[in-house]
Amino acid sequence: MASLRIPVPSASLLSPPPPRSPHLVHHCRPSSSSSRARTPLMAMASSSPPQLQELKQGIADFYDQSSGLWEQIWGDHMHHGFYDSDADDVSLSLTNHRSAQIRMIEESLRFASLLHPDSKIPKRIVDVGCGIGGSSRYLAQKFGAQCCGITLSPIQAQRANALADSQGLSDQVSFQVADALQQPFPDDEFDLVWSMESGEHMPDKPKFVKELARVAAPGATIIIVTWCHRDLNPSEDSLKPWEKELLQKICKAYFLPAWCSAADYVGLLHSLSLQDIKVADWSPNVAPFWPAVLRTALTWKGLTSLLFSGIKTIKGALAMPLMIEGYKKGVIKFAIITCRKPEQAPDV
Ligand SMILES: C[S@@+](CC[C@H](N)C(=O)[O-])C[C@H]1O[C@@H](n2cnc3c(N)ncnc32)[C@H](O)[C@@H]1O
Repeated sequence: MASLRIPVPSASLLSPPPPRSPHLVHHCRPSSSSSRARTPLMAMASSSPPQLQELKQGIADFYDQSSGLWEQIWGDHMHHGFYDSDADDVSLSLTNHRSAQIRMIEESLRFASLLHPDSKIPKRIVDVGCGIGGSSRYLAQKFGAQCCGITLSPIQAQRANALADSQGLSDQVSFQVADALQQPFPDDEFDLVWSMESGEHMPDKPKFVKELARVAAPGATIIIVTWCHRDLNPSEDSLKPWEKELLQKICKAYFLPAWCSAADYVGLLHSLSLQDIKVADWSPNVAPFWPAVLRTALTWKGLTSLLFSGIKTIKGALAMPLMIEGYKKGVIKFAIITCRKPEQAPDV
């Protein structure tokens, strides 16, 4: 497999960082190097190459700017919905789409065998790339679990904590600004490691997967739901030029590094001796999502709110047709990849 240390496309110029509010409550144990848990974003990235730092800041700013608008229209889940593959998308209401987002969580748990009556109920969960915490609150309530969410966006972390407070969940869930590639948690900590549509932002996939495996407790389940490019054919060593060009435009709009395939993820999980690796292409089950997002953006409320939500959000909205094109042409795949950390460390 080609190296998955992935080049970062140029993002916008760095703007001054907004005030940081790292939030750590008792049930999210910091790693022994506790300074990591409290290090603000810019300092955390100080040893990164400037391009990586720029990407992280771009992601933080993008979600700082756009999360309020998203929540106003779509609610607290910032991920695709899961639909029957023959769903008639135009007749679906916003309520149907929101239910489809909850279904995405349920289908992911089912795929990872966590809904099986014999499976162990997760009690400690990490939500890697948590947005405003929709998955964390849902999973904490469903399983009666403790959940720690991390995001690069201070506004998201703040909002996620406020929503947890207002829903009486602040004893169970908490959110903080932290980097998924350097998580502020000890080894072997969580029995469910959850990454819902954050992997596509990670510039170093091997490091990302290694961190997911590090914080997973022995026997824990890891669930990665993410945007990928199509798997390459045996005769190919890269995507076609037009495919690369399309993805590159999407990268610029959504602050993504270059993409990898689901097969690349599977290879990485194998290389870490993770077990029960499963993968599926759910692209047909998410097909109605982007056309629906585009339709909501084109309403009067969507357009007026968009105007006031900053240039990054507007650029993101303009890229929606590219996502639709990417799925239609089969370049973009919506993948779920799950696995289990062995109960015992493999002999080396
Ligand atoms: C599309 S949103 C998904 C949010 C959430 N998982 C959900 O489903 O509602 C992507 C999230 O990934 C987070 N993210 C991206 N790169 C990250 C990184 N290196 N470390 C931590 N979070 C990251 C963003 O801050 C954002 O919260």
